[in-house]
Amino acid sequence: MLGNLYDRALGGERCWVRHDDGEVRYLPVRRWLGGRHADGDFDRVVLTLCKGPTIDLGCGPGRLVTELVRRGVPALGVDQSETAVGIARRSGAPVLRRDVFEPLPGTGRWQTVLLADGNVGLGGDPLRVLRRSAELLRRGGHCIVEFESVVTGIRTGWVRLESSRTIGPWFRWASVGIDCAAELAEEAGLSLSGIHPIGGRVVASLTLT
Ligand SMILES: C[S@@+](CC[C@H](N)C(=O)[O-])C[C@H]1O[C@@H](n2cnc3c(N)ncnc32)[C@H](O)[C@@H]1O
Repeated sequence: MLGNLYDRALGGERCWVRHDDGEVRYLPVRRWLGGRHADGDFDRVVLTLCKGPTIDLGCGPGRLVTELVRRGVPALGVDQSETAVGIARRSGAPVLRRDVFEPLPGTGRWQTVLLADGNVGLGGDPLRVLRRSAELLRRGGHCIVEFESVVTGIRTGWVRLESSRTIGPWFRWASVGIDCAAELAEEAGLSLSGIHPIGGRVVASLTLT
């Protein structure tokens, strides 16, 4: 989806995301890579919310999967980027290189599905992403989802990655406000069971009852 400019961003090329409404934001790649650039408070809270076998959809370079496994929590990352998967594997994270909508192991048996760093907006279709997450969960399991604290409603549009050398292709993305969490959860067959503000960010627990 993100094309090879994302792979190059993971390799250190400075990239930004341009939205079709003109907004431009730097890609927080260094935060995704973890280490001293990680958002430590966010990662700590999210990691404590991941109970039991956890699947991280769109895990990127896998910092959260790596840490879960280090803590003895069974975890699997899924990402379609070859570079992200390579970095994750070198950090010791079990990761599958696959589209999250393709068949995945343990479907219907995961206790936690993780959607961090805006991944509820993958493909511009948050309902599809949450329905897919619900399929992966066992009864009583939770989907831990980062929503946007400043966005209201669902903002769906086209975005592309850019650097000073390259412009990537447009792809669909959605930014999803926390105000939509309860309604989206219900439409996906989940129920909102908790909201966890972390600094300027916010995570919701959605439960499969
Ligand atoms: C916003 S980044 C999230 C980074 C990640 N959560 C982290 O902590 O580093 C989105 C990630 O989702 C992956 N991705 C996007 N669409 C995907 C799909 N349909 N299937 C699998 N991975 C996907 C991208 O390759 C990218 O690594």
